[in-house]
Amino acid sequence: MTGPWWREAVTYEIYLRSYVDGTGDGLGDLPGVRSRLDHPRGLGVDAVWLTPFYPSPDHDCGYDVLDHRAVDARFGTLVDVDGLIVEAHAVGLRVVVDLVLNHVSAGHPWFRAARAAGPGSAERLRFHVRSGRGPAGERPPTNWPSIFGGPAWSPFGDGEWYLHLFDAQQPDLRHDHPEVAADAEATLRFWLDRGVGGVRFDAAGSLVKEDGYPDLPDGWRPGEAAPYSDRDGVHAIYRRWARVLAEYPGDRLGVAETWGGPEVIAPYLRPDELGQAFAMDPLFWPLEAATWRAGVDALLAATLRHGRLPTWVHGSHDVRRAATRWGADGSRAVLLLMLALPGSVYLYAGDELGLPEVDLPDDAIRDPVFRRSGGVDRGRDGARVPVPWTDGSPPHGFAAPGVAPWLPQPTGWGGYAVDRQAVDPTSTLALTRAALRLRTGRWRGRPAQLCWLDGPDEVLAFQRGSDGPVCLANLGDAPVDWRRYGERVLLASVSLADGWLPPCATAWLC
Ligand code: GLC
Repeated sequence: MTGPWWREAVTYEIYLRSYVDGTGDGLGDLPGVRSRLDHPRGLGVDAVWLTPFYPSPDHDCGYDVLDHRAVDARFGTLVDVDGLIVEAHAVGLRVVVDLVLNHVSAGHPWFRAARAAGPGSAERLRFHVRSGRGPAGERPPTNWPSIFGGPAWSPFGDGEWYLHLFDAQQPDLRHDHPEVAADAEATLRFWLDRGVGGVRFDAAGSLVKEDGYPDLPDGWRPGEAAPYSDRDGVHAIYRRWARVLAEYPGDRLGVAETWGGPEVIAPYLRPDELGQAFAMDPLFWPLEAATWRAGVDALLAATLRHGRLPTWVHGSHDVRRAATRWGADGSRAVLLLMLALPGSVYLYAGDELGLPEVDLPDDAIRDPVFRRSGGVDRGRDGARVPVPWTDGSPPHGFAAPGVAPWLPQPTGWGGYAVDRQAVDPTSTLALTRAALRLRTGRWRGRPAQLCWLDGPDEVLAFQRGSDGPVCLANLGDAPVDWRRYGERVLLASVSLADGWLPPCATAWLC
C-alpha cells in the first residue's frame, strides 16, 4: 500500500449515543465503545469515527458544544478517551473525533456574554450579528433559511439578530475573530495531542460567510450555491489547520464534512488542504447505471486532479438508513460497489446489519429538524435508533436489561442483532466482514484509473487498471450472465445459484 493510511481506509461511524450503553442511563457512551471494540475490529475497518461526546445541552444531539476540550459526564471521562485510543491502537484501529467548530451551544460562555453585553458590544463580534430590517429591526437581516427549517437568524430582542445556520441554540462563530481562530486551533491540538488518528470537521463548508451578507436570489433552492457555503475564504482556514495536522507524526487525517458536488469538494483536497472530503451526492443517486457511471467518473476526475481519491459515504446519522434509501438488496449492492472503487469509504454503524429507517412516534423524536419544520420533516432520528447486539427483547444488548434506550427500538429489532447475524453466512454482517477482508488483498492499492467494461446499459462493470478483479453491478431489471466478465465469483451481494447475477446485486469476479 502506498500513501497515508487514510487514502483507501474504511472508517466506521459510531453514533455514540446509539452504540452501547455502558453506564445504565439508556445513552450510548465511551465505556460502551471500549467494551465493544471487537466489533469494528472484526469487521476489518481501519478507523472509527466517534460523534461528539463534549458537554452539551443536547439541542442537536451533542452538535451544540459547551466546551470542546472536555467530555460530558454522561459519555464518560477524558480517561475513557485516552483508554479508548490506546485500546483501539492495540487492535489496529485509529480514532477519528468530530470537531464542531462552525458554531457553539447558545449556552457557551461566549454566547451568554454576547447576549448580556448588548448591541454593538465587543462580545458580539465573535458571532455573526446584524441589525434587523424594518423600522424597529423587527425582521431578520437576510432571507437565509436555517438548514433545520425556519429563518437562520434569531433576535436578541434589542434590535440585533444572530446567525445560526442550524438550530437557534447553535450560534455561528466568526472565524475571522482572532480569539475564535485561536480557540479552534487549541481544540484541534488538544485532541491531536491525545493521539487521535484524525479529525472530522463538522459543517466544513460553512465557516466563512460572504461579506455584506447578501440575500439569496429569488427562486434559490437548497443545495444551490449560497453566500454561507463553500466560500473561497474557507480554504485559508483548512490550509492553516492542515499545517497543524502535518506537525504531528503518523499522517493525521483531516476529513471535511462537505455536501457539494465534485467541483465544490475538490478544492478541499488540494495538496496543502485535507486528505478526505465527503462525497454525499452518491447517497441520493438512484440505482441507475448511467447516473453512477457519470457520477463516479466526475468525482474521480475532480479528486485525482489534486492527487487525491474520493471519499465514498454509504450512510450516516444525517440521512435515511441505507437499507431504506436503496432497499435492503440495493444497500448491499452499493456496499460492494463502493468498496471496489478507488478511495476511502465511510460505513455507518448499523448499516452492516441492514438496519432499516425506523418510523418513530412523534413524542420520541428529539431531532430539532422535526420541531423547526413544524413536523413536516420527521428529521434524522429514524436512522439513530440504538444498535441491537442480541436477539431476545429490548434493549437487545444495547443497555442492561430493563433500561430504556434513548430512542425506542421497534418490534422485530432483534432479528437484525449482531449475535444472530454472526452465525448466518448469508447475513449482511457476514457480507460486510467478507467484503472488507477481500478488499484489502484485491482492490486496495490498485490503480485509481477505472476501466469500464462493455455490457448492457444497466450494468456497471469495471476493473482498476487493465487487469485485476472485476466489479459487476446489475442495476437493470433482467439477470446478467456474470460468466461474460470472469471465471469465478469472489463475493456477491446475494447468493448466486447459477451463472446469473440477479437485478439489484453486485459481484466481485476474477
Ligand atoms: C453536521 C452533523 C449533523 C449536525 C450539524 C450541525 O451536519 O453531521 O448531525 O446536526 O452538522 O452541527
